[in-house]
Amino acid sequence: MIKANPMVAAMAPYALPDLSVPDGLEAIVLAQNEHAFPPSKKVQQAVIAAIATGQLYPDDNWTKLRAAISAVHGLNVNNIVCGAGSMELMSSLMLAYLSPGDRMLMTEYGYLFMRTLAKLVGASVDVAAETDYRVDVNRVLQSLQPQTRLVFVVNPGNPSGTVIHNDEIRRLRAALPEDVLLLVDEAYAEFVDAGFHEPIFDLAESGYTIITRTFSKIYGLAGARVGWGYFPSEVREQLRKVLNPSSVSSLSQAAASAAMADQSHALEASRAIAQQRDFLSAAINDLGLKVLPSQTNFILVDFVTPQQAGSAFEFLRQHRLVVRPMLGYGLPACLRITIGTAEQMQLTAATLAGWRQQPHD
Ligand SMILES: Cc1ncc(COP(=O)(O)O)c(C=O)c1O
Repeated sequence: MIKANPMVAAMAPYALPDLSVPDGLEAIVLAQNEHAFPPSKKVQQAVIAAIATGQLYPDDNWTKLRAAISAVHGLNVNNIVCGAGSMELMSSLMLAYLSPGDRMLMTEYGYLFMRTLAKLVGASVDVAAETDYRVDVNRVLQSLQPQTRLVFVVNPGNPSGTVIHNDEIRRLRAALPEDVLLLVDEAYAEFVDAGFHEPIFDLAESGYTIITRTFSKIYGLAGARVGWGYFPSEVREQLRKVLNPSSVSSLSQAAASAAMADQSHALEASRAIAQQRDFLSAAINDLGLKVLPSQTNFILVDFVTPQQAGSAFEFLRQHRLVVRPMLGYGLPACLRITIGTAEQMQLTAATLAGWRQQPHD
């Protein structure tokens, strides 16, 4: 047998999530935090137009896309970097900045993929407990080690769906040593209630803070694989050395530029999703189950025991609804449900009510 990188060989096998339902049924997948609606006609047309020059490599400077992002968020185009999903940007950041012996600090329910990446580069991972499924800045600060090079925070959180106020992120940044990188994963930021808090992009202009966002969620382009981040100039320089310059295809760049330019479509989608989220949360609360307050396109439901969560998961699956178990996050009593269309949410609420009526231990 040929020898793999020992870090990789020691990892558990990659497990594809099981999204299957009984034979003959068409699955409704509410397990991936994908968008409830397909891309707009404008986005679809932009992709069709872009294939006309498909013989060329994509623009490795993402010129149009960065201009579209900058126009919406009022950012310096030079500090925007795009990648094949925000995941690629996070991987490249870790490659560029973490070495064996370094430590990364993340929070209890932070994005699991980051742990895998840290291990791959030989760094150790410290985990700060959350309080009520929320990032707790005091605990993050208490968990810092002298070797901590990178602090990773997801806001709003996944799988919690909870959000902390950006003033807390600012407090965290101010209390961290200046040369510790702070990576704030804002994959779900566009779902946060309007007026809840101001953006934190300025932190990337004044110190070692990186903010990543994605087109996979609010913009409904998970299949196109486009993410972007706002980077301090010095960090951008290092990152570009290890980032695949052609990873965002010309079709994906066209799709993302068109989606970014159509803010009213995104806003409408976000409102529709919030309405369905509130409907489903209330319906599940009415069944006597706890739902964490979410400002994202998914909710986390606490079924009290792992047995109850398992039973609800199976019942939903028998009714073609596939949701996400949370064992990997150490939350075996919880299920995460992506917010879908009104029809899908009514079906989910009715099916869970049917499950609740069954005799339970
Ligand atoms: C918290 C969080 N960060 C990052 C990502 C990755 O997003 P992308 O599709 O941009 O790689 C996800 C995807 O589900 C996510 O939930």
